[in-house]
Amino acid sequence: MEEYRVAWQQAATNPEDFWASVASHFQWMRPWEKVLDADFNTAKISWFAGARLNITENALDRHVKTQAQAPALIWEPNDPADQVKVFSYADLLAHVERTAGMLRRLGIKKGDTVGIYLPMVPELVFSVLACARIGAIHSVVFGGFSAQALADRLNDAACKLVITADEGLRGPKKIPLKSIVDEALIQVPSVETVLMLTRTGTEVSVQANRDELWEEAWKHPDNTKNTAAEVMDAEDPLFILYTSGSTGKPKGVVHTTAGYMVWTAYTFVNAFQYRPGELHFCTADIGWITGHSYLVYGPLLAGACSLMYEGLPNWPTENRWWETIEKHGVNIFYTAPTALRSLMAENKQAPMAYNMPSLRVLGSVGEPINAEAWHWFKQAVGKGRCALTDTWWQTETGGIMIASLAGITPEQPTYAGLPMPGIVPVLMDAHGIEIQETQAEGNLCLVQAWPGMMRTVYRDHDRMRTTYFTAYPGAYFTGDGCLRSAQGMHRITGRVDDVLNVSGHRLGTAELENAINHHPNVSESAVVGYPHPIKGQGICAYVVTDQRIEAQAELQDQLIKLVIQHIGPIAKPDIWVLIPGLPKTRSGKIMRRILRKIAEHQSDSIGDVSTLLNPEIVPAIDKAFKRATR
Ligand code: WTA
Repeated sequence: MEEYRVAWQQAATNPEDFWASVASHFQWMRPWEKVLDADFNTAKISWFAGARLNITENALDRHVKTQAQAPALIWEPNDPADQVKVFSYADLLAHVERTAGMLRRLGIKKGDTVGIYLPMVPELVFSVLACARIGAIHSVVFGGFSAQALADRLNDAACKLVITADEGLRGPKKIPLKSIVDEALIQVPSVETVLMLTRTGTEVSVQANRDELWEEAWKHPDNTKNTAAEVMDAEDPLFILYTSGSTGKPKGVVHTTAGYMVWTAYTFVNAFQYRPGELHFCTADIGWITGHSYLVYGPLLAGACSLMYEGLPNWPTENRWWETIEKHGVNIFYTAPTALRSLMAENKQAPMAYNMPSLRVLGSVGEPINAEAWHWFKQAVGKGRCALTDTWWQTETGGIMIASLAGITPEQPTYAGLPMPGIVPVLMDAHGIEIQETQAEGNLCLVQAWPGMMRTVYRDHDRMRTTYFTAYPGAYFTGDGCLRSAQGMHRITGRVDDVLNVSGHRLGTAELENAINHHPNVSESAVVGYPHPIKGQGICAYVVTDQRIEAQAELQDQLIKLVIQHIGPIAKPDIWVLIPGLPKTRSGKIMRRILRKIAEHQSDSIGDVSTLLNPEIVPAIDKAFKRATR
């Protein structure tokens, strides 16, 4: 604990020396000239300027020198009866090199963008790292997004090549990835090549002159000829990952090479207190930032072994994760509250039958963890003997920001805890003034640059500045509310903007409304979140329509189809309320506060509606809501 205090103080008062010392443990082709350059007004951030490196040399080649035969990646397939795959550091490097050579042979060069739409198979890790090896910018799209959402992301990033599979497996279900790609590409002129892996062997359409089969392309002898790691500048982009904001289309969050490397490795080792030789099981899909930072980059940079899990947590049975932990001897288990809550709902007793003696550290991420799930995780899964770290961070932050250092700094149910060294959180009040009292609640901002922070929104730097740096001048605004205890512990209370967190998936209300408004009978809509016992937040959609109530079921089906078509099944609203109009201020702004109150069954405490242009609409909406949820 004392060491933590000293480190936090050093990083806060002299970040350049602190991070230079952390960075000195990595392999650089050329040293940096300036550790840090940050301006929170223009949103220009630079770390380790002038340095040259390749992140894959740090994640792979560096460890091959000292522990070539140590396991780097273990793959647990969808069906437990199928063969597990294990890759040592030497194996993984060889596979990444070959994939890199293959991508180069297919015409991909430094600075090109590559879309990746793959299931959770080892080739996904090879692809991500192969891009990094040749300096191509990877843009992974989660397999649960629709053809339209995929097309939007591929177009925004102007991807030249897409890597996909015939199908993905999720428990008993098959996801038709290739046909989704085919549908998306009708709208994406930049894509010249599709590299398709065979996962299920189901017959799919193949387009000559565009589609290459992974298995065929893999055999080419030239793949092994051109595998050297590209020389990258510290601030060269490493990847783009799309995430939802409160307005407009998803943003292409850009992370760069050196800062992201230092941050993911440092936070991995420190938050989980990783010990050499340990096996880390992060259950997140690589389509999300958690998978990027703590399934791929963080563990490999630290020389750890990362367990990759293809299937669902409860298939074929609700014991699958506990069996997996025992089968492989997992030491660190990092998952999301939603998954814990749904497993609890299925069978609270299930983990009691598993001793899981190897487990040492548990981690939670993605959404606030409620006390009940926290205690179940700690006792039923961790048997009361594992440290539990609740890690708060964001796609934009690159890595863990506020979390207990497992077993070292205090852990308290529902509190993420203290900031990592290098992180200076402040709370702002409603007037935009920093709150000085320790015990307080406010909007969470960060006032010091850290190495892993996003650098820009892809091809739209002004959006980076306006989204994160204008609400509170001189500070990065997280979009989250936060409660700080008298001991300085942080509890994240959830988003204060129009971003929803449904089953740990980040969704923008604007995207949902855009999808719904495509319907010819819909004139307007407003989407809000409400507390949901398993998903964390459920989605309630208020729809202004001229349809008669009798036609509601049919309209609802059409609206669900629109949401699935535009975003994906993960965005399906739970409650639909057809209403005659939305509550608006005189300036035409939708009063979402009122809609949230109604969705939370708190219409009694809506309070003053006199500023509304149409106060009479409120009881009508409340009535429609009660009818819809009866
Ligand atoms: C929320 C996921 C409470 C938060 C890594 C944040 C959390 C958003 C926690 C980012 C946590 C993430 N406790 N809330 N431990 N972790 N969040 O970009 O609202 O998918 O702003 O990154 O998730 O979601 P994202």
